[in-house]
Amino acid sequence: MTARILDGNALSAKLRGELAEKAAALTARGTQPCLAVILVGGDPASAVYVRNKVAGCEKAGIKSLKFEYPQDASPADVLGKIAELNADPAVHGILVQLPLPKHFDEKSVLEAISIQKDVDGFHAENVGRLSQGQEAFVPCTPNGVMEMLKSENVSLRGAEAVVIGRSNIVGKPMAMLLTAAGATVTVCHSGTRDLNFHTRRADILVAAIGKPKFVTGDMVMPGAVVIDVGINRLPDGKLCGDVDFESAKEVAGLITPVPGGVGPMTITMLLANTVESAQRSAQ
Ligand code: GUN
Repeated sequence: MTARILDGNALSAKLRGELAEKAAALTARGTQPCLAVILVGGDPASAVYVRNKVAGCEKAGIKSLKFEYPQDASPADVLGKIAELNADPAVHGILVQLPLPKHFDEKSVLEAISIQKDVDGFHAENVGRLSQGQEAFVPCTPNGVMEMLKSENVSLRGAEAVVIGRSNIVGKPMAMLLTAAGATVTVCHSGTRDLNFHTRRADILVAAIGKPKFVTGDMVMPGAVVIDVGINRLPDGKLCGDVDFESAKEVAGLITPVPGGVGPMTITMLLANTVESAQRSAQ
């Protein structure tokens, strides 16, 4: 059996087309959606992510503002910029690219962002709201995964979902969203005793570990939905996910590729949150 491929590029293109229409309508009414992106330091992967986010905005008719700071930037300068952007009614979303340099307190930076403009959904108040089922900005990667599952009508009510990884950015909010959708969720991590026991019973398996080709075909239940959140660079420069695609696709029923799976959906959901924020401010 060979799994069907869940194409994140195709779904992104469709959703971004709809977002561009919404952005154009808002712009015509005098509110062009605007995302401000802050990048501190010279991490090459972060620079690529930010470039893709800015390019995604441009193509969808969303204005973007980019603020770059050197590695040794003062946290006070960055916090000052956030305060300025919070107060600017023409800015609807503020994103601070992570990771920040070591001398920054990440939590205090994220919590300086107005919750109305927290399009990454990383502010503790938005995380709390999400956990209670209240309206909140949902972190982009897990939100993108939910959109992918929805696009395929994957049944979540009563499904066994296993998330490998417990990060604030992916694993934890992913587990919250799957739980809210009615799945029975197990969160596995580096301390999990018998990982294969859990993964082999998953109807939906989400890999967000950050280790190349970690999930192999023998860890997958036949017919399962396998979602690969990982983006790893191999020594030869090629990208690969946290799932060993070649072996897993022989067992799974539906699988996301890397690249071209969850990655483009993350940026799409960022654009969606920015348009949503602009829509709220225009009301
Ligand atoms: N670093 C890795 N992923 C993300 C993300 O989704 N948002 C931000 N701001 N930084 C990240």
